[in-house]
Amino acid sequence: MNTTRCDRTPAWGALQTRFDVAGRTFDVRDAFAADPQRFGTFSQSAPHIFADLSKNLIDAATQSLLLDLAQQCGLESHRDAMFAGDKINTTEQRAVMHWLLRNPPLAQAEPAQPAIQNVAHELAEVHVTLDVMLAYAEKVRADGTITDVVNIGIGGSDLGPQMAVLALDEFVTPGKRFHFVSNVDGHELAAVLKKVKVDSTLFLIASKTFTTIETMTNAHSAKAWFEAQGGTDIARHFAALTTNVAAANAFGISTTFGFWDWVGGRYSVWSAIGLPLAIAIGAQGFREFLAGAHDMDEHFRTTPLVQNLPVRLGLLDVWYRNFHGFTSRSIAPYHCALKRYPAYLQQLEMESNGKQVDLNGAALPFDSSPVLWGEPGTNGQHAYFQMLHQGTDVVPVEFVAVKKPRHSLPGHHTLLLANVLAQAQALMLGKADAGGHKNFPGNRPSTFLLLEELTPTTLGALIALQEHRVFVSGSLWGINSFDQWGVELGKVLAKDVQARLLSGDAAGLDGSTAGLLARLKA
Ligand code: F6P
Repeated sequence: MNTTRCDRTPAWGALQTRFDVAGRTFDVRDAFAADPQRFGTFSQSAPHIFADLSKNLIDAATQSLLLDLAQQCGLESHRDAMFAGDKINTTEQRAVMHWLLRNPPLAQAEPAQPAIQNVAHELAEVHVTLDVMLAYAEKVRADGTITDVVNIGIGGSDLGPQMAVLALDEFVTPGKRFHFVSNVDGHELAAVLKKVKVDSTLFLIASKTFTTIETMTNAHSAKAWFEAQGGTDIARHFAALTTNVAAANAFGISTTFGFWDWVGGRYSVWSAIGLPLAIAIGAQGFREFLAGAHDMDEHFRTTPLVQNLPVRLGLLDVWYRNFHGFTSRSIAPYHCALKRYPAYLQQLEMESNGKQVDLNGAALPFDSSPVLWGEPGTNGQHAYFQMLHQGTDVVPVEFVAVKKPRHSLPGHHTLLLANVLAQAQALMLGKADAGGHKNFPGNRPSTFLLLEELTPTTLGALIALQEHRVFVSGSLWGINSFDQWGVELGKVLAKDVQARLLSGDAAGLDGSTAGLLARLKA
């Protein structure tokens, strides 16, 4: 693999010059006026998704320089290394192969996928495990006595399955309720336990490591509650989804579904961590979810950079973060079932690319991950869109809209689509008003992702698209998008503070923590 950090390429300097000359003052309204073909040039189809990038602050010359940047950084070589199973997660010496979880078995793999031979053994294991997990999911679906599935997990062991089960609500089997407990705050588990009964509940303990303190605490409390209520059949009512089967067995769970250390937590919804989704939408639905993602993998792996949607989005992210200096991106899904999609993307992007050193541990001389935030539309419009339209910061917005609804209530969907189009239009066009208060500056960029319908297939493609665009910006920045050391310090300190909360010992603590501890102990 031959990669170069973005700021060490000739294209980086050329982009800075381009920004100074034409980027800073670029006005997308003028660009549309000058080029009737702009929509066609800056929109494209990718598997299951149509993307309109034309309302972004970009022109052909800048796009061409960004593509030079990708080439000079060795993006293709880095991508190919991931798809060859190389250990590109260098700080943990691990391969990065969440994509393999959605690859068809070797016999059905595309002939143009030569590197798959390198990981044939892993692929065979993936399919054996997947078949077993999906058979179990079907068994649970057919078991009318199980009415409640409680997933206990946090981070990637919560956000992926929760986001997807909510998103695919229309496909969820009737007669089963799904609950997600992630927070160590006992209010969350207590509220769920009030609603469920021992005989009709299946607890899924989801933890890649099976050591995460929040998940272990919730799992212990759930097991204690189960036993206190007279429950005895742990094998039937508890299953563990983990790479650490030994720890799950030691905990007392014998029903386990495994995966591998080459699946990052935030990339794990495609693995056994996806079991709640498989129970919710069935084996066939889960396979469609995987297939949609695989279609996007193949698009990312084989399409020339210029028509490669994850590449185009990732390059735009770099342009906005490093040249325009935009600090955040607002995620605006115009589908209420995508309510956890912004939270899911927060972990995906900010845990992956919220880094300050490069692969060699050297400080980055440029910015990395933006802040991601958002809510489903139209709700966001009545909360923070004021700031998007008239605030002092420019925040690129990424809309997601769905052409066909799955309800038949008249009028609603047209109104929803009218709103998403109007918001994107208003951000771009603005409205001049001499009085000031009613002036909309416009020229505020947005991207528009359009799905035909929200289905397992299209959701799979959408999520894989997001995974790969995060890979692209992380690759150009020369960082390791697949570790998360930043989460560790807080975990270590929490253990120390936990002991001090019990003992009251504040010796050696900073003044603020000591003061708060004293108040809590008083
Ligand atoms: O928050 C850090 C993290 O390590 C995430 O990357 C991960 O998704 C989450 O904790 C949960 O970890 P586990 O699945 O091992 O319990």
